[in-house]
Amino acid sequence: MIIDPATLDLRGAYKLLIGSILPRPIAWVSTVDAGGRPNLAPFSFFTGVAAAPPVVCFAPMRRFADGAEKDTLRNVRATGEFVVNIVDEDNVARANVTAREFAPGVSEFAEAGLTPVPCEAVRAPRVAESPVSLECRLLQIVEVGADGAGGGALVLGEVLRFHVRDDLLHEGRIDTGALRPVGRLAGSEYTTLGRRFELERK
Ligand SMILES: Cc1cc2nc3c(=O)[nH]c(=O)nc-3n(C[C@H](O)[C@H](O)[C@H](O)COP(=O)(O)O)c2cc1C
Repeated sequence: MIIDPATLDLRGAYKLLIGSILPRPIAWVSTVDAGGRPNLAPFSFFTGVAAAPPVVCFAPMRRFADGAEKDTLRNVRATGEFVVNIVDEDNVARANVTAREFAPGVSEFAEAGLTPVPCEAVRAPRVAESPVSLECRLLQIVEVGADGAGGGALVLGEVLRFHVRDDLLHEGRIDTGALRPVGRLAGSEYTTLGRRFELERK
């Protein structure tokens, strides 16, 4: 089957993307608005970009319903900062709660029963319950695609601090099994780590 995206509506194209690119790690992004009110939401269009300095990116799309920008993106524009918290098996249900569309200014921390902890280098709080958090300073926002529904923005941020739960760090490496990360699949499906194997690079 060959599909030209020009023949699809935007939800159709979105379904093919999320069914093809998987499993996807989840950036659970905490921000504050210009008034300092916290916000928290998950984004699975997320990856690393560079190591020197460390840079990550995630992509909040404009809402399908009305083309509006998400609160997270608005907050990043207003403050130039964000925190990426990693989602593990213990906190994935709460991450799902924080994806609901609460009114701007409603704290998803409170709604999901999570604990905001002050960061060192940015004003946004991190999630205490998260095993790894990355304090980030905005480098660049790349506007991508449509100006309305489904259009995207690629948010690039330099990692200013890594917070790693003590038991996870061994000689500079994170114990990936102990981290128990969760990935997003399509729709409301998620996955945990399956069989892990090693391949030597020759
Ligand atoms: C696991 C998960 C991953 C998500 N990934 C994305 C994503 O990559 N991009 C996006 O625009 N929305 C994504 N969403 C939806 C947003 O989390 C949702 O629109 C949220 O209400 C945005 O909150 P905000 O307006 O406070 O930023 C995801 C939702 C879930 C549950």
